[in-house]
Amino acid sequence: MTSAGAFAPLSSPSASAQRGDALGDPPDLGPVATEAEALLRQLASEGHLLSEAAEQRVRGVRAEVAGTGRYRQTAEELLQGSRIAWRNNPQCVGKFYWKALEVRDCREAGGAAGDEGDLFEALVEHLRLSWNGGRIRLLLSVFAPDEPGRRGPRVWNGQLIRYAGYRRQDGSVLGDPETVRLTEAVQQLGWRGRGTEWDVLPLVIQWPGREPRFFELPPDAVPEVRITHPDHPWLEQLGLRWHAFPTISNQVLELGGLRYPLAPFSAWYTCTEIGARNLSDTNRYDKLPAVARGMGLDTSRDRTLWRDRALLELIAAVLHSYDLAGISIIDHHFATKQFVRHEEREQKNGRGCPADWSAIVPATSGSTTPVWQRRYEPTRQRPNFSPHPELCWQPASCPSGGATG
Ligand code: ARG
Repeated sequence: MTSAGAFAPLSSPSASAQRGDALGDPPDLGPVATEAEALLRQLASEGHLLSEAAEQRVRGVRAEVAGTGRYRQTAEELLQGSRIAWRNNPQCVGKFYWKALEVRDCREAGGAAGDEGDLFEALVEHLRLSWNGGRIRLLLSVFAPDEPGRRGPRVWNGQLIRYAGYRRQDGSVLGDPETVRLTEAVQQLGWRGRGTEWDVLPLVIQWPGREPRFFELPPDAVPEVRITHPDHPWLEQLGLRWHAFPTISNQVLELGGLRYPLAPFSAWYTCTEIGARNLSDTNRYDKLPAVARGMGLDTSRDRTLWRDRALLELIAAVLHSYDLAGISIIDHHFATKQFVRHEEREQKNGRGCPADWSAIVPATSGSTTPVWQRRYEPTRQRPNFSPHPELCWQPASCPSGGATG
């Protein structure tokens, strides 16, 4: 393969002279070409492209960008670049597996007409492939990028699978409070949920400048887990459940000067995300009081540590239930140990490990994990995934529906 230094930057005078550019520096083609060049150079330095091939490719990309303002990435650029984007993302504790990310090329989905129904089918297929019978795959599907004159498609949903949140008259919420605004926006489009605590939201697909369309997910694309506890049979009566795996759909993939606004990313869960956040945060499902009552704890004072005890049993229940159902899930001790191994491996390869400490340390038992004592820099490097700057294109119906670590 090739070493980091072997591929001279083509914007340097020597490189431009080499390729017979009599005028010296090539004309400034703007950030697309510059970013593309940086990505190609990085791919070459990491051994995914021979240096000569990379030089040739840079020339090709420059010509393409000069003519059309855009360029088309090769399947290999998309694959390797997306893996690096994951590696660069400071929010993810699971980056140890960055090289195992599978990338599905959905850039043509929807055809020339951009048919939303076809996009929906491709998203459903993404869910089925990620599910993989319970052995959850690390899967990214990449849809059409923004282009001059035509921005790429988006979904309003923060994750492809999420539960509705219905605001009641008295201000309380039935379902997931995280999605109240999204739920209202979807209702304005004409959607009617069943009105339960666990209604899966439809997907809202929109091309900028076009009407949004919503689609109900078929049940087989939405595997869920009923939460039971190994030692507390009563916990089943609480009727708790969660979807089998997360699929983040509100991040833009920024790759080599291109922006892919729809690039859903699936992975397995860490048990604390569900037990110590989704089901227990007071501004989410807020189930700790119910768990504590079942355990017979004294909830009259914080000082009895009823929240802490209930939290631990809820996390144990999540882990137990996913294991029982044969669905991939990891615990926070394993996750953070792997993260430290990743960090060490990156160091050996001469790279840093951009990370946001508050996202890497698990929501509970932080000090019992090896990341607690370490310090991280959340440096932004490209390629990367970044949250959508705006939630949708129509402020009147702008939903929330954030998916956070
Ligand atoms: N915390 C989010 C959720 O509970 C998911 C974020 C991504 N997590 C992951 N394991 N890939 O739904």
